[in-house]
Amino acid sequence: MADGLELTGVSVAYAGRRVVDDVSLQVRPGTIVGLVGESGSGKTTLARAVVGTVGLAGGTVHLDGTPLARRRSRTERRAVQLVQQDPYASLNPLLTVGRVLDELLRVHRLAERRIASDTAGAPDAGAWRRARCAELMGLVGLEADTLGRYPRQLSGGQRQRVAIARALAVEPRILVADEPTSALDVTVQRTVLDVLVGLSARVGLGVLLISHDLSVIHAACDDVAVLREGRIVEHAPAARFFTHPSDPYSRRLLQAVPRLPERAP
Ligand SMILES: Nc1ncnc2c1ncn2[C@@H]1O[C@H](COP(=O)(O)OP(=O)(O)O)[C@@H](O)[C@H]1O
Ligand SMILES: [Mg+2]
Repeated sequence: MADGLELTGVSVAYAGRRVVDDVSLQVRPGTIVGLVGESGSGKTTLARAVVGTVGLAGGTVHLDGTPLARRRSRTERRAVQLVQQDPYASLNPLLTVGRVLDELLRVHRLAERRIASDTAGAPDAGAWRRARCAELMGLVGLEADTLGRYPRQLSGGQRQRVAIARALAVEPRILVADEPTSALDVTVQRTVLDVLVGLSARVGLGVLLISHDLSVIHAACDDVAVLREGRIVEHAPAARFFTHPSDPYSRRLLQAVPRLPERAP
């Protein structure tokens, strides 16, 4: 089985009702796969299945060829991180950004792991964590002084970038972003999407980008999967999907989008 995330025949049911039905999907390192579907199509449920917060009624989730069980080890939980729509709800208002990141690095002993595997002269753990926090800000395009701010002092777009930095802090292989830009203005959406595109290319992160909005998918994704009533009705490279969608439902979704930037045929 190949590197990255691989879902095979994944189904999820709530009280006997299947809301995700036989979904197969791959997210390779360094690529962004868009999952698009209308409200209620099962996108968030699929995200939960990937991160293990809901059990499967069928199918398997593999990471780098290894099956992930519902109950995951700490290492497995680190490997697949979730970013949700509303970063404000998930950021502790009493802690500065730097404090949040530092705590995470501490809890997961990431400095100690790195220093132990470092053959060149090892810095102390505190210095390593400070440097890593600054590096994380850089990865999401925020100034290092953001580390001293509280969530309420940040804009929506900055908060979402902090949420991405927090997910990255634990060095995941896969990031699942569930409607990460839905609460943001269109211009700010673009900066957050550009961060995801940059990360997939620079650190080889695999991203499952979930959105009801095809213009979001268009701006960021290498591949597109269309979810309709819990089933994948089309899965294609983005260039082909946006020029020659094969499924009638995909065509209807595309016709409903007012205007997409031109793409080469
Ligand atoms: N915890 C839950 N219990 C029961 N039904 C749920 C639960 N969460 C979602 N659903 C139902 O599952 C379906 C898919 O929901 P969801 O995965 O949130 O879709 P989406 O994210 O695409 O809007 C919807 O019909 C929704 O009402
Ligand atoms: Mg949802």
